[in-house]
Amino acid sequence: MISPSITLDITAKAKEMKARGIDVISFGAGEPDFDTPENIQLAGINAIKSGNTRYTATSGILELKEAICEKLKKENNLDYKLSNIIVSNGAKQSIFNSLFAILNPGDEVIMPLPYWVSYPEFIKLSGGVPVSVETKEENNFKFKLEDLENALTSKTKALILNSPSNPTGAAYDLKELQDIANWAVKNNIFVISDEIYEKLIYDGHKHISIASLNEEIKRLTIVINGMSKAYAMTGWRIGYAAADEEIVKVMTNIQSHTTSNPCSISQYASVEGLVGDQLIIEEMKEHFIHRRNYMVEKINSINGLSCRKPLGAFYVMANISKLKGQIIKGKNIESSLDLANLLLDEAKVAVIPGSAFGADDFIRLSYATSMENIKEGLNRIEETLN
Ligand SMILES: Cc1ncc(COP(=O)(O)O)c(C=O)c1O
Repeated sequence: MISPSITLDITAKAKEMKARGIDVISFGAGEPDFDTPENIQLAGINAIKSGNTRYTATSGILELKEAICEKLKKENNLDYKLSNIIVSNGAKQSIFNSLFAILNPGDEVIMPLPYWVSYPEFIKLSGGVPVSVETKEENNFKFKLEDLENALTSKTKALILNSPSNPTGAAYDLKELQDIANWAVKNNIFVISDEIYEKLIYDGHKHISIASLNEEIKRLTIVINGMSKAYAMTGWRIGYAAADEEIVKVMTNIQSHTTSNPCSISQYASVEGLVGDQLIIEEMKEHFIHRRNYMVEKINSINGLSCRKPLGAFYVMANISKLKGQIIKGKNIESSLDLANLLLDEAKVAVIPGSAFGADDFIRLSYATSMENIKEGLNRIEETLN
């Protein structure tokens, strides 16, 4: 059975309350709160005006694939040909297509827990079996090699790596990636490397693509990236994958029979995103760092909550284990969903229950919202929990 997305449910409930005139503050957002940069908007308008409004090649327009190859070379030290690239309707479709392309019924896919909500569902939809490996808070929510080793069976086909991570903000360093790469190569395991948050990495840390470590791991890796988070383009639906030519061919076949090409207008706008001025990303990052620092400090000062400082993305995982088993405002808090419901009903603040990510001792708060909202929302949470 495919589970509905709990994250989308809570944000929908919060939106509905807002529509009824209730002053809800949402920490549920999975998207930057900034507008798409103007140069990209204009490129979209220009694409419409110049008639670039028809079907394109299933795997994307030449100009965009060239811009992606150039980006991967320049920023990630990765050499790919046009035939190694497929552009999709968001990174979401790229990940789904990759799993659908490589999995046979019963194949196991190792993924981190807490996991991004769609990973287990993609694996199940593709006939595979999700195997979650818990990444502990005390290890900054990162895989330990021995845990991967313990999860390995003769059916293990792939590993999903998500750095920086949604929901934990974990980001892997060079040594950790080398260890994972060696393990994957030794055991002939595909790596789906979801790098959608690569630009949102802080405190001097640098994103490294696992595929760039050597030719052997590159052959096994499907690099996933996209425009949504880095360029505030979530609604435009452009993501992409870079992988071995044979895999890209199968992914293209799948896409050709399901959705065909991603939106032509969005593809032209994305070319501008990749080749145009990148300053906007730095400006967004400055905001995110400022907000993250405030949020982390405040959460750690609230009774019953604690959190680590995430290195990337725009989420904080707050540990709620001290609140479980307590009665707050007459409500029994037995789960992260109970707490999320209490905060929505009492504080009028929307957070995502950790159960959505397989981690019931946590709630996820997104700081992709204004500083004003962050201050007010956290004050309300503090009052409710006091
Ligand atoms: C970890 C992760 N991967 C992939 C995606 C998909 O992004 P999109 O389909 O908008 O490119 C998201 C979006 O929330 C995400 O958090």
